[in-house]
Amino acid sequence: MSILKHHAKIETNVILLMVGILLTVIIGGIVEIVPLFTITETIEKVEGMRPYSPLEQEGRNIYVREGCYLCHSQMIRPFRDEAERYGHYSLAAESMYDHPFQWGSKRNGPDLARVGGKYSNDWHVRHLDNPRDVVPESIMPGYRHLHRPLNYDDVVANMKTLRVVGVPYTEDDIANAKADLVAQATTDASTDALLQRYPKASVGKKDRTSDQITEMDALVAYLQMLGTLVDFSTQTPDAIR
Ligand code: HEC
Repeated sequence: MSILKHHAKIETNVILLMVGILLTVIIGGIVEIVPLFTITETIEKVEGMRPYSPLEQEGRNIYVREGCYLCHSQMIRPFRDEAERYGHYSLAAESMYDHPFQWGSKRNGPDLARVGGKYSNDWHVRHLDNPRDVVPESIMPGYRHLHRPLNYDDVVANMKTLRVVGVPYTEDDIANAKADLVAQATTDASTDALLQRYPKASVGKKDRTSDQITEMDALVAYLQMLGTLVDFSTQTPDAIR
């Protein structure tokens, strides 16, 4: 019982106890933090992840502007019930190009991390018009005002700014930003170059109520991309092998 005897000595001497606590925290800190200095990246790269296309990025901005994150999360937690409802749990790499990330902490509605491809474009447009047209019991507000034309004057500045914080847009991506945006939102446009730069982008006009490119077009293109970039049927990222 000699250890207990020493313990009593430490516990009854405030100075000794503080020194002891300090030592423990310092050693614990060194063990946990120092190894992080030896690696440049804490996010494991996963095949398929790419920066968002100009139209998707504009859609993302609308998602943030409208406060969709106040009711929707974009992070599937690694629990069985979550994975069965929403699909594979979210990987850090899947939000590596999000500034700021949209993980969210509120779920009045379902998680949207893998909503891409779950519904048709028409479903999304009708749902955003008036959610109760397709889901009678829905409490989600309608977003009819998104049928107005998309103002994308800022798309190049937006991409350049994202590049400053680490999104790897190339000169080519930036030079073609507006052309790519128009190509993605137009049915029957030539999209080869676009899809080369942004594989799996959801192309074609989404909002049939207007001939112009609308905010709805951008938002739906963004929603249709969510969770579709990493193909979990053909690869198992190192992190989960
Ligand atoms: C007041 C809370 C609230 C806000 C704000 C909100 N939603 Fe929802 N959302 C819901 C609820 C509740 C549901 C489930 C019922 C339904 O499908 O309408 C839902 C469902 C959805 C779905 C279908 C998900 C699925 O897997 O079935 C999508 C897509 C969606 N919302 C997108 C959006 C977008 C985009 C915005 C912002 C423009 C938004 N929501 C804003 C509450 C909200």
